[in-house]
Amino acid sequence: MDFELKTLTRARICNEKCDALVVLVPQDFSSTADPVSVLVALALKSGDFEAKPGKLLSAYRTLGIAATRTVLVGAGDGSPKQIRTAVNAALGALKASNAQRVVVCLSVLNSQQADVVRAAVVACSDALYSYTATKSKASPAKLQRVVIGVSSLADAQAGFDKGIALAKGMDFAREWGNRPANHATPTMLAGAARELGKFPNIKVEVLGPKEVAKLGMGSFMAVAQGSDEPLRFIVLHYEGAAKAEAPVVLVGKGITFDSGGISIKPAAEMDEMKFDMCGATSVLGTFRALAELQPALNVVGLIPASENMTGGSAVKPGDVVTSMSGQTIEILNTDAEGRLVLCDALTYAERFKPKAVIDIATLTGACVIALGSVRSALFSTDEALAQALTQAGESSLDLCWRMPLDEEYAEGLKTNFADVANIAGRAAGVVTAAKFLQRFATRFAWAHLDIAGTAWKGGAAKGATGRPVPLLLDYLLGQVSLAKAEKAPAKAKPVKRRVLLPKTGV
Ligand code: BES
Ligand code: MN
Ligand code: ZN
Repeated sequence: MDFELKTLTRARICNEKCDALVVLVPQDFSSTADPVSVLVALALKSGDFEAKPGKLLSAYRTLGIAATRTVLVGAGDGSPKQIRTAVNAALGALKASNAQRVVVCLSVLNSQQADVVRAAVVACSDALYSYTATKSKASPAKLQRVVIGVSSLADAQAGFDKGIALAKGMDFAREWGNRPANHATPTMLAGAARELGKFPNIKVEVLGPKEVAKLGMGSFMAVAQGSDEPLRFIVLHYEGAAKAEAPVVLVGKGITFDSGGISIKPAAEMDEMKFDMCGATSVLGTFRALAELQPALNVVGLIPASENMTGGSAVKPGDVVTSMSGQTIEILNTDAEGRLVLCDALTYAERFKPKAVIDIATLTGACVIALGSVRSALFSTDEALAQALTQAGESSLDLCWRMPLDEEYAEGLKTNFADVANIAGRAAGVVTAAKFLQRFATRFAWAHLDIAGTAWKGGAAKGATGRPVPLLLDYLLGQVSLAKAEKAPAKAKPVKRRVLLPKTGV
C-alpha cells in the first residue's frame, strides 16, 4: 500500500481526480460554497445521511466533483477514535470496488491534528490488509494508493509519519501472527527477525538449543523438548541512542503452536493456538516501526520461540525443571507453557541493566474471560511504568487495564516438590500467571501485558490484529521525549529528521 500526504484546501477538494473521494464529515459540519460542501449539506438536510461515526453515503460521477465516486462518511465528534471508525467503514466498503486510487479527505474536519491523521492512516491500513501468504490464487489488492488530504501539512506531517510506521509495524505483526504453524516455525520466525536486521541500527542474534542449554534455560528447554522443531532464542537490538543509555527490553512469547503438550487442549478451536506467538510478533512489529522512525533510544527484543507438543520426549506433569534463575519449577500443567519460556527470557534480560522490561504474551484464557477483546491486561511492579503504559494505550487507541499483584494471589503457586509450581487454582488465572512471572522480574522495573483477548479475532473475521504494537510504540516514543526533557529542561529544539533507507523492502 502506497500512502501520500497532500494539502487539499476545501475549495480544491472537488478538483481532485481519483477513483474515490472519501469525505469525513463531522457532527459540527459547517457548509461553504464548494460543490462537496453543497453535496454534504443537501445529504444531511434530506436525512439520507448522518454524521454519526461510520455512516456512509455514496454518489457516482457527481456534477462539479472530479472524483469518480464520492463517499461521505460520518466522523462523529472528530476524535481519533471516531475517525478510526469512519475510515474503517469507508475503506472497508471500497475494498471490494474497482477503485485503485483513493483520496481520504480530512480537510472538512475542524481538527486535523497529528493524532487524527495517524488514526486515519492506521485505519486505512487496517481495513485494506489482506492475508495472502498461503493462498494459491491470491488476487492482488486493487486498491494501490491512498492519498490523505489535509488543509495544512503543519500539524499533520508528524502524525502521518507515525501512522506509516505503525501501519508497517502492524502489518508485519499481523502477517507473521496469521501464518500457520507449519509456515511459521521457530526457525522461520528467526528468519523474519533476521530480515529486520537489514534495517539501519537493528542487529539480530539467534541462539539455538546448544547455546540455550549452555545458558541454563532449563524451563524454556522443557517446553521445547516434546517437539521435533528446534527452539530458537531471538535477540534483537535497536540502537538509536548512545551505547551507555540503558535500553528498554521487550520480551515476546513465541509459542508457534500450543497443543497444550501432555496436558493436551480440547480439539475445538485448537487451530487458534497458531496465534500463540503474537507476543513475539508484536515485538517484531514494534522493531519494524522503530526501523521506520529511527527514534533516539535503545531497545532490546527477546523472543523465546518454540512449539508446545506432545512427543515421546515431552515434559510430563509433575516434572521438576531448573530455570536460568536457579529457581526450580514443578510443571503441574504442561499447557501453562508461556510462563515457562518467559521466565528464562526475563532472567536473560538482567544482563542489559534495563531501564524497564515489558513482556507481552497470549498467556491465559482467563484474561479473555476477564477483559474480552477490548483491553489487554497490564501488570506492573513500577508505578511510573504502569502509568506510562496506560497512557500510551489511551493515546494510541490500543487500550489496556491495570490488574493487581497482591502477594495473596501467589499462595496457590506453592508446592512441596520445587520452589514454585507453574499453576495455581482456577481462580484469578490471569493474575496467578503474572505472579509466577514476577518471581523472575525482581531486578528491574517490570510490566507484563496479557494480550490473549486482544492479539487476534476469532469467528468470521479470524485473524491477528497487530495489537499491541501501537501501545508499545507510543510508550517507547514517550521515553524519547522524557529523556530529552531530562537532558535539556530549558530549551526544546526541533528534532532533525534522519532519512534512512532500508536495504530491503520488508
Ligand atoms: N496460550 C494459552 C492461553 C490462551 C488460551 C490464549 C486461549 C488465548 C485463548 C496458554 O498457554 C494456556 O494454555 N494457558 C492455560 C493456563 C492454565 C493451564 C493454567 C489456560 O489459560 O488455560
Ligand atoms: Mn498453553
Ligand atoms: Zn500458550
